[in-house]
Amino acid sequence: MSQKSYRIAVLPGDGTGPEVVAEGIKVLDAASRKFGFKLDFTHFDFGGERYLKTGEVLPDSAASDLKKFDAIFLGAIGHPDVKPGILEKGILLRLRFELDQYINLRPVKLYPGVETPLRDKGPADIDYIVVRENTGGIYTGTGGVTMKGTPHEVAVQSNVYNRFQVERCIRYAFEVTRKRNRRKTLALCGKTNVLTYVFDLWERVFHEVGRKDYPDIQREYYHVDATCMWMVKNPEWFDVIVTDNMFGDIITDLGAMTQGGMGIAAGGNLNPEGVSMFEPIGGSAPKYTGKNVINPLAAICSGMMMLDHLGETAAAEAIERSVMDVTAHKLKSLSAGKMGYSTTEVGDLVAKGV
Ligand code: IPM
Ligand code: MN
Repeated sequence: MSQKSYRIAVLPGDGTGPEVVAEGIKVLDAASRKFGFKLDFTHFDFGGERYLKTGEVLPDSAASDLKKFDAIFLGAIGHPDVKPGILEKGILLRLRFELDQYINLRPVKLYPGVETPLRDKGPADIDYIVVRENTGGIYTGTGGVTMKGTPHEVAVQSNVYNRFQVERCIRYAFEVTRKRNRRKTLALCGKTNVLTYVFDLWERVFHEVGRKDYPDIQREYYHVDATCMWMVKNPEWFDVIVTDNMFGDIITDLGAMTQGGMGIAAGGNLNPEGVSMFEPIGGSAPKYTGKNVINPLAAICSGMMMLDHLGETAAAEAIERSVMDVTAHKLKSLSAGKMGYSTTEVGDLVAKGV
């Protein structure tokens, strides 16, 4: 019988990206050996170093080259010697847009043994998924600046959505909620009391699609400010949250802190009909670079999400069980330098337990 095999593009990127990606690959390799499939990794050097050397942020062929892979595994983008925005927009956002990865899936899940700043909350209370729209809104809306540098400078950046973008995101979120099969509740996070055009569109589509095609799923609505409040006060209310690009960016950092911080928070930029890209939510952490102290669990969990997305569900579950065992019984903390183990040792521990 021929072995199933997947081609993975690896973009280690900047700072601690390469270190955490190496541990992710270590764990993925362990899972592939155990569960009998093959992973074939091809590395790309996109990032700050390459930009500083060549002056090119991203080759124009990048997206079409990456489309030939089954998935993309990314470390971190962001370099201390490059002005903020150039690499983020030129690499990360450009790839999300050009590969039409219109969903950003960000689970907020507190693993056993992990400290949360939410008093009296445990793993049973913090376990939900944020579905962030990932290719529209204010991130790609029209905008510009006039009279720059004068007292009359005008700057505009608009939150633009069309129905197609909203509907495909909301449908995906309903599907996730159904597949999860927990509280069967999808919450829309918006701001219908102020952004009366854009979130009116979101809200109408949400109820129309839900009423017609997902009668088994309960619908709730929260303003974004209230969402933040309840994510802190009553996270157990949430099952799946769907929201736009900007609000999704903000609330998932809040969610990440409640699940133990950037050392553990993982995400996937998904094109359900194309190639998807998996990345830790945290940045390139320049101050920890090369010290073997950064926590690789977020990258490892991104790898786990990648396997789940590829259909290797049993392997993904085994990685998650191993991660939980490590958080529950080994690590002293999830913070860089305070784990009680080095980056590579944490990778070893998870790989061994798969
Ligand atoms: C994220 C990041 C990016 C975003 C930045 C780096 C462009 O914050 O993945 O959440 O805003 O989407
Ligand atoms: Mn962010």
